[in-house]
Order: sequence, then C-alpha cells, then structure tokens
Amino acid sequence: MSINTKITGVGSYLPETIVTNAMIEDILDTSDEWIIKRTGIRQRRVVKDETTTYMAVEAAKRAVENAGIKSENIELIIGSTISGDVSSPAIASYVQRTLGCENVAAMDVAAGCTGFIYAMATAISLMETLNKNTAVVVASENLSCRSDWSDRSSCILFGDGAGAVVIERSESNSIYHPVLHAIPDTDDVLYVASSKYAHPWSKDIATDDCAIRMDGKKVFAFAVDAVEKTLNELTELCGDKPITKIILHQANNRIIRYAATSSSYDKDQFFVNVDRLANTSSASIPLAIDEAAREGWLKKGDVVALVGFGAGLSYGGIIIEWAI
Ligand code: UT7
Repeated sequence: MSINTKITGVGSYLPETIVTNAMIEDILDTSDEWIIKRTGIRQRRVVKDETTTYMAVEAAKRAVENAGIKSENIELIIGSTISGDVSSPAIASYVQRTLGCENVAAMDVAAGCTGFIYAMATAISLMETLNKNTAVVVASENLSCRSDWSDRSSCILFGDGAGAVVIERSESNSIYHPVLHAIPDTDDVLYVASSKYAHPWSKDIATDDCAIRMDGKKVFAFAVDAVEKTLNELTELCGDKPITKIILHQANNRIIRYAATSSSYDKDQFFVNVDRLANTSSASIPLAIDEAAREGWLKKGDVVALVGFGAGLSYGGIIIEWAI
C-alpha cells in the first residue's frame, strides 16, 4: 500500500545578474535574432558570487518557509545537480548542514536535466520505504560556469538558479504516476565533461574541461520524442482525471511549441519562462513551479504534468495535483 503525499511548500533562488542576448553578441559571433528564433531565449540569470550550494540552500529555505514547517522536522533531503561545487558530498548534505536538520537521510540523484523528476520519484518512494513524513527536493544549477563561452551553439542556451519543494504526508494523494525512462546515449550527444588528474600508471591525460558538450540537433530530436511519449503515457495513466496544466523542462521554446502542436493539449496549458531564465537544467521545473504558483498560473486543484528530459539520455514525468 503506497502512502499519500502532497507538495506543501515551494521556493526558488535566482541570481540578480541578467545577461541578455545583446550582451552575448558583444563576445561571440551570434545575434539576438538567431537565439530568439532557434530557442525563444531572450535573457538568462547568471551567478556573480553565488555557488550552486548557496542557491540550493536559499531555495530550500524559502520552500520550508512557504510550507510553514520547522527545519528540524525535515527527515529526507533529495538533491539534484549537474553542476555541483564539489563532486562529493551531495548538495543535499549542504542543505542539511545549513538548515540544521539533525536526523535526515540526504543524497543527490544524477539524471541530467531530468534530475528533478527522478528526485521527486525517489523522494516519494523513500518516504514510504523509510517511513518518513517530510521531505525536501531541491535542484540547483550553476551552468554559466559549466558553459564553454567560445562554443556559440551551446553557451547561449543556459542559465543559473535553484528551486525546491517540500513534500509531506497527507490524507489524500497529490503526487502520483511517476514514469522514469532512459535510452542509451551511445553517441555521447549530451554530457558534462569532468576535469581529472593523470597518474603515472595510466595513459589518461589530465584535463580541466568541465563544460557541457552537446550535439544540439540530436538532442532536439530526442527531446521532442521523449516529451511526446511521456505526455501520452501520463495522459493514459490519468484516465478520466484530465491533466489541466503542463510544466516541461524549459530547454527551448521550440520544444515546448512542438509538444503543444503534437499533443491534444492547448498551448496555453504549457508554462513558459525559458525566454527569461533560459535552460537551467534540473532546476528548471521547480523554478517554473514556484513562478507559476506565485503568479497564480497554477490554481488549487490543477492536475499538473511535470516532464523532463536530458543527459543519459534520461526522460520521464510525474503528476502533481496543486494543493497549496
Ligand atoms: O536540456 C537539454 C539539453 N539541450 C537541448 O535541449 C538543446 C536541444 N537543441 C537545440 O535547442 C538546438 O539544436 C540548438 C538551439 C542548440 C541549435 O539549433 P539548430 O536549429 O539545431 O541549429 P544548428 O546546430 O543546426 O546550426 C544551424 C546554423 C549553423 O550554421 P551553418 O552550418 O548552417 O552555416 C551553426 O553554425 O546556425 C549556426 N549557429 C549559430 N549561429 C548564430 C549555431 N549556433 C549559433 C549561434 N548564433 N549561437
């Protein structure tokens, strides 16, 4: 028998610094017109002094405040990032230590831009398995520091920020139908490089590359297919309780428009903030949830499909019924 859970709080953190397409025109052979036409992105937020950890902690604090709970009541923290300040420990561990939660399980999931979906599924599963009442799911990304600013085909896509939700047990269930998938990325069309030392017994050479590497066209083709499949799957699972709103991973407005035309849903049912925040990887969905909730785009009772896709090649979705 599965437990009932719902989202009771949401929060986010965005750096103040805005980088417009025009500012990128000054450093690269690109144009505002090209970027808008191919991606819908007009600007992105980038860190000045903030770290991935700092943004994660701020987003988590705001979600906890929004839920009206005490940090000491948190029993589980699941993080997601492709741009941690360190490879280990997890951002979840830093959130634990800053929020002062003594008795928690804390870990990150690594599922690329689908990380928040995987983290939500992990959180509700572990709440049941470990018999926990309250969890925080937090995704934070500092992609401006993982972008190769000489590669015009990728650096224009990304932005920084963090988002978090609080999940609590409840009388009725408002988080359901997690669907998680992955297909092998045999051509390495999307990954984040990792710097490493060489050692005397290996042929490996040291590298300080830690940038996002991507074959944009192939990733685009994978993304539209993954979104279509996941939306169909969630629609079928929801049966006679129709999905009213859709929040996709904010990677490219063309992907969102494609999803609207290839599905039975109206374009107004899709939330869009990629024009202002660009692609913030696993943080994009909780950032969107927070903005959509604050703006009143999300209404109590909405049945919301969250859909992500990214490195792996992972993809998946989950349904949340908006209950705040
Ligand atoms: O979170 C998930 C990860 N990523 C994604 O979801 C990204 C998915 N892919 C995409 O969004 C698109 O493939 C891109 C926006 C990255 C690229 O759009 P595209 O329509 O696939 O363009 P392209 O790579 O085929 O490039 C077309 C042309 C090329 O010039 P030529 O060879 O036709 O002369 C590129 O060199 O556009 C050129 N180009 C640019 N021109 C101006 C590539 N980047 C730029 C640029 N400014 N920033």
